[in-house]
Amino acid sequence: MTATDSGRADPTEARELDRIDPVPSSRDQFALPMTASGEPAIYFCGNSLGLQPLSAQSHVDEIMEDWRRLGVDGHRGGRVPWYTYHEIFREQGARLVGAHPCEVVMMNSLTVNLHLLLTSFYRPEGQRTKFLMEKPAFPSDIYCVESHLRSRGLDPEDHVVMIGPDEGDDCLRTDAILEAIDRHGDRLATVMMGGVNFLTGQAIDMKAITEAGHRAGAMVGFDLAHAAGNIPLELHEWNVDFGAWCSYKYLNAGPGAVAGAFVHQRHAVNRGLPRLAGWWGNDPDTRFRMHLEDSFVPVESADSWQISNPPVLAMAPLRASLDMFDSIGMNALRSRSLRLTTYLRKQLESIPGRRFRISTPSDPDSHGSQLSIVVDGNAEQAFGDIESMGVVADFRPPNTIRIAPTALYNTFEECHRFASMMSNAFGSST
Ligand SMILES: Cc1ncc(COP(=O)(O)O)c(C=O)c1O
Repeated sequence: MTATDSGRADPTEARELDRIDPVPSSRDQFALPMTASGEPAIYFCGNSLGLQPLSAQSHVDEIMEDWRRLGVDGHRGGRVPWYTYHEIFREQGARLVGAHPCEVVMMNSLTVNLHLLLTSFYRPEGQRTKFLMEKPAFPSDIYCVESHLRSRGLDPEDHVVMIGPDEGDDCLRTDAILEAIDRHGDRLATVMMGGVNFLTGQAIDMKAITEAGHRAGAMVGFDLAHAAGNIPLELHEWNVDFGAWCSYKYLNAGPGAVAGAFVHQRHAVNRGLPRLAGWWGNDPDTRFRMHLEDSFVPVESADSWQISNPPVLAMAPLRASLDMFDSIGMNALRSRSLRLTTYLRKQLESIPGRRFRISTPSDPDSHGSQLSIVVDGNAEQAFGDIESMGVVADFRPPNTIRIAPTALYNTFEECHRFASMMSNAFGSST
């Protein structure tokens, strides 16, 4: 064993880092999946499905009990009335994404929200028809965008502009994105990109992209699935037109949890904007006057993009999640996330003869909690071996392992143990 390898086997430094970190782990507030041998798994999959906050159960139970006790009266008389359940997330949700409360609403799921928002923010007119997105974009986003174009009689082949990394690179260059926006100028209707790319974990410069999009006269929005709860966002300040995120990744609100949407105040108060309508987007004062006042009057806030009454059971765990983000604060969590990710990167990059590279940018402004590891050789087999040692992560064919050391429940010691496994599987000693 070399000196570096023996250092790698020794967890003392990692344990010390866990002990002294100024933002302590909240690990004891989460249910940790166990390995077959009864040890907590090294759960690095918070970028896919976050762990269950222990307090989530009581919020779900509360609704089940209120429903049992009250029936329909739970809408008004529940401990948290169902009628206004979406409203309880407004302030915390706004703080999470750097928005004003009127700009944020929790509703539906992510792709559904993107559809609803594109109805308002993709308005092709005259020669301004093009839609710019990144490559690779998440498939659901591509299907969503292409279906919007087709539904307006436009061929995606001609009207979707995809901007990808340069040949041989993994990540996008900001100046290439800005240049593409400028080049398409007055033919560009909408720019929509992943704030943090699902594959590489690259965080893009949302402020600069929004400014460039607006200079071109386009609407600008972001898919924030991998950004919300991962990196600090200032959606209002950056002047972003629209955004949407899911709540099951970094936000730990559970599988299929209710998603979020952002609409900038200048649009949120614009009752004249075209949108798909349903009764929950209507002014609450007339919502129950039903046939007596049956014309749609949008609420002057992001709430007006709601369609149906809130699915409260799928929303309840979000209370546990947002309470946690709010009490610790996104900036504190971000600082811990950067320390964990930087530590893990250093450990991985010091593996002698490593047969992998990290495709996530190293600049702290360009990544969140995820490191994407591109491995040589039979990646699937090697990933299977690592999984069998108690790591929960994910694999994206052909050769990317995505690892997310999240600030809320991962530790330096877990990063250290994972690096040892990678050294064994992909280092020169194998
Ligand atoms: C970047 C991105 N966009 C969209 C989606 C689709 O989410 P949903 O199934 O909630 O619509 C996901 C899901 O993981 C995603 O990662």
